[in-house]
Amino acid sequence: MTRKKRTAILISGRGSNMRSLVEAARAPDYPAEIALVASNRPDAEGVAWAIDQGVPTVIIDHKAYPSRADFERALQSALDTNGIELVALAGFMRLMTPDFVEYWRDRMLNIHPSLLPSFKGLNTHERAIAAGVRIAGCTVHFVRAEMDEGPIIAQAAVPVLSGDTAETLAARILKVEHRVYPAALRLVAAGEARLDGEKVLISSDVSEPDTLFAPTI
Ligand code: GRF
Repeated sequence: MTRKKRTAILISGRGSNMRSLVEAARAPDYPAEIALVASNRPDAEGVAWAIDQGVPTVIIDHKAYPSRADFERALQSALDTNGIELVALAGFMRLMTPDFVEYWRDRMLNIHPSLLPSFKGLNTHERAIAAGVRIAGCTVHFVRAEMDEGPIIAQAAVPVLSGDTAETLAARILKVEHRVYPAALRLVAAGEARLDGEKVLISSDVSEPDTLFAPTI
């Protein structure tokens, strides 16, 4: 295997996706290593876990900076210091400036709990239930300047059941998020996700029907 890609995970809260990435990256053949966890909130639940696991962790409190650009300069400096090559947003609740997004173009991933391009933005699960969709899911995509926009790397679908609330649906989707994000990061870090315009081509695509619900995992 070629050298592992040094990856930073950016969080703002619970950090369950961060955890799934850190755990997946422990496999000897995983093509990314989690070289940094950065949180913009000192009290983020995920921070304590990352420190406990011995993952290099920094807190860059956005409230300490006068502007978004100042905050991003501090973040960029932490990424540079740690030799970061890929960035994975995992419940990171700050909008990025177009300059920052452009710098990390095709090297920054995000996970969103819907089948994009449906249900971008907040309150995703409530809106999916209100719309009466029968299938929901999650998407890992490359980040672009518009919120929840960008080339799709991987998706997984789950059913929406009649009695679902936003909470029960969120819990069902979160379970597949924890499988899809490590799978998507693996593809990108291994160089198996290639951009063709604004579409991602996967070199290891498989076409069996059961991969619909668990693509390339
Ligand atoms: C996840 O549902 C993710 O898709 C969304 O924010 C939530 C973060 O959860 N972007 P966690 O912090 O990873 O547990």
